[in-house]
Amino acid sequence: MGVGALSFGQRAEAAYRLRLAGATSPFWRREESTMNVNEAINIEDLHKIARRRLPRIIFDFIEGGLEDERGLTRNEAAFHRHRLLPRYLVDVSTRDQSQSLFGKTYASPFGISPTGGAGLYVRGGDLMLAAAAAEANIPYIMSGASNASMEEAMKRAPNHTWFQLYAAQDPEITKALVERARDLGVGALVLTVDVPVSSKRERNLRNRFQIMRGSSVFEAFKLKPATIAEALTHPGWVLDYMRHGGAPTLGNWAPYAANGASPKEVNTFARSQMPFPGQTWRDLENYRRWFPGTLIVKGIMSPQDAVRAAGIGVDGILVSNHGGRQLDQAPAPLDVLPAINAAVGDKVTLMLDSGVRRGADILIALALGARFVFFGRPTLYGAVAGGLPGVKKAIEIFRGEIDLVMAQIGCPGLAELGPDFLWQEDWQRNR
Ligand SMILES: Cc1cc2nc3c(=O)[nH]c(=O)nc-3n(C[C@H](O)[C@H](O)[C@H](O)COP(=O)(O)O)c2cc1C
Repeated sequence: MGVGALSFGQRAEAAYRLRLAGATSPFWRREESTMNVNEAINIEDLHKIARRRLPRIIFDFIEGGLEDERGLTRNEAAFHRHRLLPRYLVDVSTRDQSQSLFGKTYASPFGISPTGGAGLYVRGGDLMLAAAAAEANIPYIMSGASNASMEEAMKRAPNHTWFQLYAAQDPEITKALVERARDLGVGALVLTVDVPVSSKRERNLRNRFQIMRGSSVFEAFKLKPATIAEALTHPGWVLDYMRHGGAPTLGNWAPYAANGASPKEVNTFARSQMPFPGQTWRDLENYRRWFPGTLIVKGIMSPQDAVRAAGIGVDGILVSNHGGRQLDQAPAPLDVLPAINAAVGDKVTLMLDSGVRRGADILIALALGARFVFFGRPTLYGAVAGGLPGVKKAIEIFRGEIDLVMAQIGCPGLAELGPDFLWQEDWQRNR
């Protein structure tokens, strides 16, 4: 039977199968285009697999920054500028990368940053992240814009779930969210402050990503024909989306929308409440009063803000520029970390995210004064690439790289890590 005798659907399916088998790629690219999670050896591999699995409109939302995406490049480049100075003839036959944080000991010095909408990228994404974190004994920060609810996350990972708060315009809702997190006993409340307004994410504007938020299958037809056609080359994701009748709801917001509200209605309601550009330091003082447990502010970049937050009594600061998604001209968190450390390092616990892609990056951030490091995209790539095993793979990759680099630099335990392990460009400053 000639190709001409095949229906459009059969031809599309055949083309898809060929693509999956890598047969349309030159032979030197085939391995890459057929690679699965088990074969991934670094975060970039998971990134590539995730890109293959997702329609571009969804992948762009995860991967993208804003405007010219200079912040994205800057975040990763900041790590590339540092060199670790190895020390030898140290017994590194056993290495311990466990790290204590807010009275708990975690198996590694890293955790999962909050990422909204994970259930749209892969069904059940939030709970996969929670489950993998619990199994690996690392913290998982559930996003305030997650699809699962904090109650569900606490069931899956009772000792590892933290909750990230986006304040609502209605203070009653904000208070209810804080009290819910408090009553559930989440490990920490993480207030994100770097979203006073939504940013100009140009990939999403071009793709009309907003249509996908909380949309039904029918609304997806409002997308540009080219976007739909491209999405159809990822039938696995599209079929899953259709089978579930569209985008998932926002689990933490459902109780505040009208009774029986559809995912789209919950989403529209939540979008009418966030972001809240009127939030001020006075609100932070309120959250401090309402939440007696560990309170962390995420997104602080200026040493003066860090001093002010410390004065209000927050327990931790997660230095972050939202993974280059909010202000394209913001410095890389790694670059501001030493200044924040000098300002408040003795008063609050410092953590960092944005641009971490290697175990060595984590060690560099620790050497510069962070107690703990987080990442957002890497575990999402893992989830999209291979579900729960994919998230575990991302964690395993980071853990393995940290272990090897600790041995390479002569640092059997994290307590010993400090600025002496970083090469100073001015050679006279190296000790
Ligand atoms: C798809 C996606 C969704 C995100 N959603 C949230 C969110 O809901 N709340 C939040 O505080 N940060 C959110 N972030 C930012 C992350 O918490 C984190 O700061 C960022 O991903 C770190 O950079 P990295 O991806 O380079 O590791 C999101 C990031 C991504 C990539």
